[in-house]
Amino acid sequence: MPAFGVIGAQWGDEGKGKVVDFLSSNADMVVRFAGGNNAGHTVINDHGEFKLHLVPAGIFWPQAKAVIGGGTVVDPAALLGEIQALQARGVDTSRLFLSDRAHVVMPYHVQLDQLEEQARGNSALGTTGRGIGPAYVDKTARVGIRMGDLLDEEYLATRLKAALQQKNLLLTKVYGAPPIDLDETYRQALEFGTQLRPYIAPVESAIADGLAAGARVLLEGAQGTLLDLDQGVYPYVTSSSPTIGGGLTGIGIGPKDIKGVVGVFKAYSTRVGAGPLPTELHGGMGDQIRELAWEYGTTTGRPRRVGWFDGVAARYSARVNGLTSAVLTRLDVLDGIDPVSVCVAYEMDGQRIDYFPTTPSALERCQPIYEELPGWTQPTAATTDVGALPPEARSYVKRLEGLIGAPIDLISTGPRREESILIRPIIT
Ligand code: IMP
Repeated sequence: MPAFGVIGAQWGDEGKGKVVDFLSSNADMVVRFAGGNNAGHTVINDHGEFKLHLVPAGIFWPQAKAVIGGGTVVDPAALLGEIQALQARGVDTSRLFLSDRAHVVMPYHVQLDQLEEQARGNSALGTTGRGIGPAYVDKTARVGIRMGDLLDEEYLATRLKAALQQKNLLLTKVYGAPPIDLDETYRQALEFGTQLRPYIAPVESAIADGLAAGARVLLEGAQGTLLDLDQGVYPYVTSSSPTIGGGLTGIGIGPKDIKGVVGVFKAYSTRVGAGPLPTELHGGMGDQIRELAWEYGTTTGRPRRVGWFDGVAARYSARVNGLTSAVLTRLDVLDGIDPVSVCVAYEMDGQRIDYFPTTPSALERCQPIYEELPGWTQPTAATTDVGALPPEARSYVKRLEGLIGAPIDLISTGPRREESILIRPIIT
């Protein structure tokens, strides 16, 4: 009953799409467990280049079921658009399943996300504006609409009526916006239900049966550990749990089912949105890496903030996820940069610390302590053999491995599936 978590180990955008696509060759089920279409997973394989937001990256492998689990929040229009785009390019979507427990991102959630961000003014969080936070708020407040509800006309009518009573007060009295029409929203929700009916299923029991029969289940993470609602740098977080803990609750399995937890790390740091990034590089090298690596958001197109690899944050991430192995992506971006710096500790209030403080105020007082490592001039791009890496690149990987505290079993040297160095099999 082996399940494997593939978790974003930094601030998201670590290249999980490519990694999940690569690892799914060996998986029977690939399950997204949290988040929504705030995620953007880029995959380049034999079918072409895809930017997935909700559909699991396992969709390209004919043996794998691609499942959107109950811990996610799903914008029906976005999902239907993604399915149609895949079908138009000849990708088989008949193995796609959507949990009847997944919460629906309703149009009013998107509207509220944007109004709330505007109202925060200078304290805006820099959300993706996709309605993710408000949808999770409704889930927690027990006024959410779930995918299964879209298939039950009567129940949907009561749920939506109750939800809209509340939302319309908020929209009109707090934000001065026009109210939402119940009948129109109801009709639209029923229509979404009709279109999504072929995919909606009680997927949790299929996952449990699969695990009992020895199926290899890959839990596809979205966002990253440092954006986790509990373990991240609150309030600069997303509204779900991208850590392995969220994986268990998001698909309804126990810890005994987990055989491995793989943390995906980029060879440097990036983040989009507000909040501390201790190793941030302002201008110069930061701009160079951003342009070289095209570090712009897959979902919103926003420029990503760039910094050196943060070994303190990495160790923290390894701890909260219990990482059994790590994947290093975008190593090739550092080709030609000499020297390369790595943060090995912080200085906070005049003291050297090696732990990761999770309050923004403490983290903002942290100055990174760097170690400089020699760079490499020989390109690593597209390398598929670890022995062919320049010795300086191998030393860099070793140093990161030491800081993370888990073996780096896979190195990505380019965006394509085949541009990968598999050091040790991960999904076994
Ligand atoms: P939300 O998830 O849209 O509510 O945004 C909350 C924070 O998480 C913002 O800083 C976003 O930029 C960030 N965020 C959400 N999804 C992703 C992602 O997939 N990659 C990177 N950052 C993300």
